[in-house]
Amino acid sequence: MKKIGLIFAMKEELEETKSKLKFIKKYNIYDLIIYECSINDKICYLIESGIGKVNAGFSTQILIREFEVDCVINLGVAGSVSKEVKKTDIVVAENLVQHDFDLTSFGREKGTIPNVGKYINCDKYLLSIAKKIKLNNNVFYGAIASGDIFVYEEAMGKKINNKFGALCVEMEGAAIAQVCYLCKTPFLVIRSISDSPYEKDNNTTFEEFLITSSKIVGEFAVKLLEKI
Ligand code: ADE
Repeated sequence: MKKIGLIFAMKEELEETKSKLKFIKKYNIYDLIIYECSINDKICYLIESGIGKVNAGFSTQILIREFEVDCVINLGVAGSVSKEVKKTDIVVAENLVQHDFDLTSFGREKGTIPNVGKYINCDKYLLSIAKKIKLNNNVFYGAIASGDIFVYEEAMGKKINNKFGALCVEMEGAAIAQVCYLCKTPFLVIRSISDSPYEKDNNTTFEEFLITSSKIVGEFAVKLLEKI
């Protein structure tokens, strides 16, 4: 894999990885900025998608069609919905699900997308490389649930954990997974925990840990990029 697309929802998340790569040039498409950077013999295209599933899907499609990337990696922070997964821990997704996709009134299980399915699996090769990386932080592997909701209520966090077996929640990963699935492009999602709906005022914790956790994910990303 030579050309790698890297998607971040927010500028803070992007900067912590971009600062570790060699900047080459930048492109503008619509209102988006794409940074071309290198690491060893690889070219990376970094994009700040904006928050949420539609923004994430839009950026994914641009990286695939305009930059012809060989794979897409989504990096950023997430809220833990598992008692075991703590702030600054890393979660590497094995698969992703949209916890807010609901056709239950037509007899479909919550999260099931017609012609796509419920869980979308990350690329086996990218996952196998990720599993070899050693950092000082704890690394968990499992399901990540995405939706257009910042999850701050304990009850909602528990429901998502029980219903989908998700370790954490965020707002983009499963949309990126869906576009990659439709475009037959390998992908991986890696997040570091910034907050949890099991703690009060997790929007404040999110702001406090945004940079710290983005740095951790950036360190993990660099190790991954060196190996793929
Ligand atoms: N990203 C980081 N924390 C989150 C949360 N609690 N809910 C949704 N997305 C998040």
